[in-house]
Amino acid sequence: FASGALSGRRVVITAGPTREALDPVRYLSNHSSGKMGFALAEAAAEAGAKVVLISGPCALPTPDRVERIDVISADQMLAASLEATGNCHLFIAAAAVCDYRPAHRSAQKLKKHGDESLKLELVQNPDIVATVAAQKKPTYCVAFAAETERVLDYARAKRARKGVECIIANDVSGTDTGFNSDDNAVTLIDEEGEILLDKRSKTQLARDLIALLATKSDSTEKS
Ligand code: PMT
Repeated sequence: FASGALSGRRVVITAGPTREALDPVRYLSNHSSGKMGFALAEAAAEAGAKVVLISGPCALPTPDRVERIDVISADQMLAASLEATGNCHLFIAAAAVCDYRPAHRSAQKLKKHGDESLKLELVQNPDIVATVAAQKKPTYCVAFAAETERVLDYARAKRARKGVECIIANDVSGTDTGFNSDDNAVTLIDEEGEILLDKRSKTQLARDLIALLATKSDSTEKS
C-alpha cells in the first residue's frame, strides 16, 4: 500500500507522439519522445496513485507500478483514454497528438509518379482531452499546450477551448527544453492563476507538477 498525495487515486496519463499512417510503411508524426509523460506517470505512482499510462510509440521503459497501454494513432489513443478514464480522479494529456491524419490510408505502398508533386489530403483527428473533459465525470483534466510563440496567450485560449481545469504551457521553440530534451520549463495555468516552473529535469518537474495537481484536483469540485 503506497502512501502519498495521490494515495489510492486513479490517474490516467497520455504520453509520446501519435502516428498517422499514409500507407503500410509511412506515417505523419512529431518529435515527442514520451519523456515528460513517462516522468509524470512515475511521479504519480511514487505519490501513491494507480496509474494507467497510455503511450504512443516510444522507446522508454515502463515505470514501476504503472500499467501501460500502447497505442499508435490518435483514434486508438482516444478509445483507450475514454475507457481508462471511466473512474478516474486525474487525467493528464501530455501526449503530442497529431491534429490531422491522412484522409485516405493506402492499402499498398504509395508509388512515385515521375516528377509530379504529391498532394496529401488531411482530416482532423478528434480532440482527446476535450472529449474526456466533456464527459460527465468528476475527473480533473489537465492539458499541455506546446507553443512556439505567444505561449501564455495561446495556452490560456486552449484551456478555455478544451474545457480543462488546468493547462501546462510549454514553450517548444528551443532544443534544451520541450520536445525530446531531458529538461523542461512550463507555466501551470488554472482559475487560481499562473505558476512558473522554470527549467529543471523532467523527472523533477514531474514531481513538482504532481504535487501541485494532487492538491488542486482534491480541492476542485467538478459537477
Ligand atoms: O515527449 P517529450 O519529448 O518529453 O516532450 C514533451 C512535450 C513537449 C510533448 C509535452 O511536454 C507537451 O507539451 N505535450 C503536448 C504536446 C501537444 O501536442 O500539444 P498541443 O498544444 O498540440 O495540444 C494541446 C493539448 O491537447 C495536449 O494536452 C494534447 O495532448 C491534447 N490533444 C491535442 C490534439 C488532439 N487531437 N487531442 C488532444 O488531446
